Amino acid sequence: MIDGQTLHDEIRTLALERNAVILAHNYQRGEVQDVADFVGDSLGLARQAAATEANVIVFAGVHFMAETAKILSPDKTVLMPEPRAGCPMADMMSAADLAVWRDQNPGVPVVTYVNSTAEVKALTDVCVTSANAVAVVRALDAKRILFGPDRNLAHWVGRSLPGVEVIPWDGYCPIHDQVTVEQVLEAKQRHPGAEVVAHPECRPEVVDIADAVLSTSQMLAYAAGSSAEELIVVTEAGLLHGLAKAAPGKRFVNLSPEMLCPNMKVTTIEKVRDCLLDLTGAIEVAEDTRVRALAAVERMVAIG
Ligand code: 13P
Ligand code: SF4
Repeated sequence: MIDGQTLHDEIRTLALERNAVILAHNYQRGEVQDVADFVGDSLGLARQAAATEANVIVFAGVHFMAETAKILSPDKTVLMPEPRAGCPMADMMSAADLAVWRDQNPGVPVVTYVNSTAEVKALTDVCVTSANAVAVVRALDAKRILFGPDRNLAHWVGRSLPGVEVIPWDGYCPIHDQVTVEQVLEAKQRHPGAEVVAHPECRPEVVDIADAVLSTSQMLAYAAGSSAEELIVVTEAGLLHGLAKAAPGKRFVNLSPEMLCPNMKVTTIEKVRDCLLDLTGAIEVAEDTRVRALAAVERMVAIG
């Protein structure tokens, strides 16, 4: 068996030989995050994918993230070490669903969370991520919007912008939506004085009792700047790896061992090496879909 350091070094050498950049989401396994050139949230990684000069983008994340990279950088080879890594929420709204919903609400702007397929993005006016959803919808200056697929992020946007009627699609993240108020209150009782940071994919009643509602990378910055010595982290457990690096003196409490996204964990460091060796796992998007999806993603990037 090859030891971790050898594998790490092999991957870095291969990345150099292939002129590849390795992008990893904040929920990836620690050793995958450590071998990446950039680790970030959906927005940060999309920006990296758009800006890179590498020929190859190895995307350690889930399918919609790699697809967004391909939408932004069609001339690059975008590889997923484990192409079967999907996002169940993204599959909760199909393009056919959205087309019907849009036709039922003529003239109402369609705002879509990036956790969606390229086909859905292609029917969208503007995309958002958890980091910029409120800012992008504010900039739209609309009275009513359709928002999918995440009903919880839709609620968070509506709560943050009282003048906007946010009509939600009924999708959700199985990992974040399962969190209950009781779990958070119990954690607060066990850790008095700790601050609660929650992802906006959590249910409204959970978000209501959080001290801060943030994207994954925003949580890293918040933890580093917070005066609290202990934080209760209400998001996927992979973030704890980055939190320990971002704020080494602090204590982080993972709300529950069930906060694990299996799709984020199927990518292993061995699979990163194999995909660089064989250049397998290429992500493709049909050109007409890509061009329409790009308009929605670019509108988002321009605003926030
Ligand atoms: P972030 O963009 O905040 O990293 O969130 C992505 C995601 O899939 C959360 O479940
Ligand atoms: Fe999708 Fe939830 Fe996993 Fe994020 S944590 S990739 S929203 S299933």
